[in-house]
Amino acid sequence: MPIEKVGVAGCGLMGSGIAQVCAQAGCRVVVREVSADLVDKGLKSIEKNLQRLVDKGTISDSIRDQIRARLRGTTDINDFRDADLVVEAIIEQVPAKREFFAALDKICPPKTIFASNTSSICITEIATATKRPGRFVGMHFFNPVPVMKLVEVIRTIATDPAVFEEMVAFGTRLGKVPVRTTDRTGFIVNRLLVPYLLDAIRVLEDGTASIEDIDNSMKLGCGYPMGPLTLLDFVGLDTTYYIANVMFDEFKEKRFAPPALLKRMVLAGWNGRKAGRGFYDYADPQKPRPMQLT
Ligand code: 3HC
Repeated sequence: MPIEKVGVAGCGLMGSGIAQVCAQAGCRVVVREVSADLVDKGLKSIEKNLQRLVDKGTISDSIRDQIRARLRGTTDINDFRDADLVVEAIIEQVPAKREFFAALDKICPPKTIFASNTSSICITEIATATKRPGRFVGMHFFNPVPVMKLVEVIRTIATDPAVFEEMVAFGTRLGKVPVRTTDRTGFIVNRLLVPYLLDAIRVLEDGTASIEDIDNSMKLGCGYPMGPLTLLDFVGLDTTYYIANVMFDEFKEKRFAPPALLKRMVLAGWNGRKAGRGFYDYADPQKPRPMQLT
């Protein structure tokens, strides 16, 4: 059965991007936040992104209006009752996610597929809060969602193979390249990316090189679009710290252990671009200046 109506839980950085790409792919989308202010903020960021596409000539005014008409914000979880698929992108905390899906399970008909955008939490642990673990997958998008072409589709040992393939096909319909993976912490990307990012902090910590030289090395030497410390600021240091701890807990390997400097920066609230400072100071967002950290 084609997926026509999508519910998106959470309209922050990831949720708003997911809502946007689903609406662009022709789905009717209801996106939910916990307060009217947050709904408004999320919808405004989608509006800004759509306008960016109009200004570049990628889409016309009339296509923008059609996408907009397919999108609706709400604070009421009951508005997900007739969704074919609900994608969750709320706070990265196991109890919050389990609570959300347990409530959703009572509202949605048995056919509705549930997906979590979690980057590191065990999908099985969330899916078992529902009575439909067979219709539960991970759909892990990348920031900025409208731009990044990848989506990781994650199956647990309980996921129905037909549901898994349906979600892989849905990833393609969203204009993404879906990759299939299993419920191992970090999936594919963060399994490889997180040790690399943590190593970049260790290189800074042990005095091997400066912030700018580390970033330039990977940008200019390896062709990465952003250096690792810029990427850490972009993803959020608190987010990376959380993911690293979950991965260390799962694998008990030193390469996933958060470096002391990362912990100190998170404790200080220097969480990267969104906080105004991280490895760089964003007082002038156009010209970030490296911080003095070592
Ligand atoms: N939303 C929507 N579109 C955006 C955007 C945003 N936030 N930021 C940039 N864009 C668009 C621009 O409009 C532009 O589109 P165009 O090519 O059609 O003109 C395009 O992206 C390129 O943008 P810019 O020219 O302004 O800037 P850059 O060339 O520096 O690209 C970037 C910006 C796409 C963010 C690029 O720097 C990049 O790819 N960085 C790496 C991002 C990355 O690695 N993300 C994954 C993080 S890990 C993750 O999300 C997983 C989690 O679990 C941790």
